[in-house]
Amino acid sequence: MKCSVIIPAGGIGKRFGSQVPKQFVELDGVPIIIHTIRIFDKLEDVEGIVIPVHNEWFTHTKQLIEKFNCSKVKEVIIGGVERQDSVFNALHTKTVKESEIVLVHDAVRPFADPVMVQNIINLTEEYGSVIPGLTPKETVKERNNKGMVIKTIDRNKLSLVQTPQGFWNDVLISAYEKSAAAGFKGTDEASLVEFIGYKTTIIDGDDSNIKITTQFDLKIAELIMNERNRTA
Ligand code: C5P
Repeated sequence: MKCSVIIPAGGIGKRFGSQVPKQFVELDGVPIIIHTIRIFDKLEDVEGIVIPVHNEWFTHTKQLIEKFNCSKVKEVIIGGVERQDSVFNALHTKTVKESEIVLVHDAVRPFADPVMVQNIINLTEEYGSVIPGLTPKETVKERNNKGMVIKTIDRNKLSLVQTPQGFWNDVLISAYEKSAAAGFKGTDEASLVEFIGYKTTIIDGDDSNIKITTQFDLKIAELIMNERNRTA
């Protein structure tokens, strides 16, 4: 099946506290977004990559892609106000429309394991909606808005969800269109798929597949990168 990848990179990094959005910060001398693109650039099943970015970073992104020779990036487009809007715009590109499977992966997750990604592609072919997740290590509690505990939730029934998330194209497009029509907002693609009543399968995620959101996450990312370089 033809597979395309959307890498939403339209955030401006409000929580990160730097002038440069986190996806453009360098890790081991290479921008985080390039590390992320390379995971998919190397996979044979991936035919094309689409990257939504904020308009202020459009030219910079195009220059990076050329400089680092990311050959499978077919389209850099303007993203939207929210992540969901950025992905919505990408779903309407030629690259995505021509594919049968679409993966969506955060630009700020540069350590996704290629074996896990390939597994997600294979399982998506079969099931139509597959995502990686991890069981929480901490005890999880529900609280009210005053900080009072309501109850403890059985963590073995929970998953902390990562990306890439894989879908049959028609499932994701339908989920986005129906969510947009209903004004439904979700923080990942799978919640929109859930909204239209389609079942999603969760597979084991990976501890290293962190989402770089804060300066602390960047420090962890540096440690992971050093460890990988040491053992390469
Ligand atoms: O903001 P958050 O950390 O959830 O962002 C996750 C991913 O979505 C990042 O790669 C970010 O650049 C992207 N994003 C986007 N368009 C937005 C906001 C975030 O593509 N408007």
